[in-house]
Amino acid sequence: METKKILAELTTETTIFYPNFISFEGGEGSGKTTVLKQISQKLSDAGYEVIITREPGGFQSDIAEHIRELILSDKMGKMTPLTEAFLYAAARTQHVQQTLIPELTKGKIILSDRYVDSSLVYQGLGWDNLATVVQINKAAICNVMPKTTLFFDVKPEIAIGRVMENRTEEINHLDAREMSFHQLVYAGFKQLEAIYDNRYVNIDASLPLAEVEQAVYQIILAQVEDN
Ligand code: TYD
Repeated sequence: METKKILAELTTETTIFYPNFISFEGGEGSGKTTVLKQISQKLSDAGYEVIITREPGGFQSDIAEHIRELILSDKMGKMTPLTEAFLYAAARTQHVQQTLIPELTKGKIILSDRYVDSSLVYQGLGWDNLATVVQINKAAICNVMPKTTLFFDVKPEIAIGRVMENRTEEINHLDAREMSFHQLVYAGFKQLEAIYDNRYVNIDASLPLAEVEQAVYQIILAQVEDN
């Protein structure tokens, strides 16, 4: 089956694309985490109730955060791709049920550092088993999707250069990968962007951080004010 058809199976007619739910996606060093934190502060200052969360893991979700530790730990042997895909999906479904649904129901704005698209790219397209990953995640997301996904678009050559310069953050075994891997991830997100064109918003993440922040803030503001 062609990629587009496989990806279309992630959602159904009962899936809710929440306007207050915005996912941030992109490769390593794309700046999404830094921008997300700053935007959250700006939105709070403007009087909005915002929650920052992340995947794998999740705001106030101990179980999902424990699964994160397990996946990102470099103390263990190599996981099989399917184990990894299930663990990301397990963390995700816990995050959806424990954090996303309750907080979205309260009307909070949720900014999530990665969501299901990361699995589609890293475990699905990267590992060449997209159909399985789509089916696992179709169950995991419980019909919860963001209305907007911000794709931090920057070529891996630039992004990884940034990571190397700012080596103060959490470093885990997933960081130490080859450029060909990062290129595969980048190509994967570009593919999703072309297919999920209603949901994806391209952010030129090669621009200086202040400009990226400004652009992202305007997009989110328009999105939540519209709601
Ligand atoms: P993290 O240190 O949070 O990296 P980043 O700042 O790039 O988001 O680690 C998250 C890693 O997990 C990252 O390499 C991408 C990977 N990942 C997957 O492979 N699948 C997924 O479903 C998710 C959510 C993350």
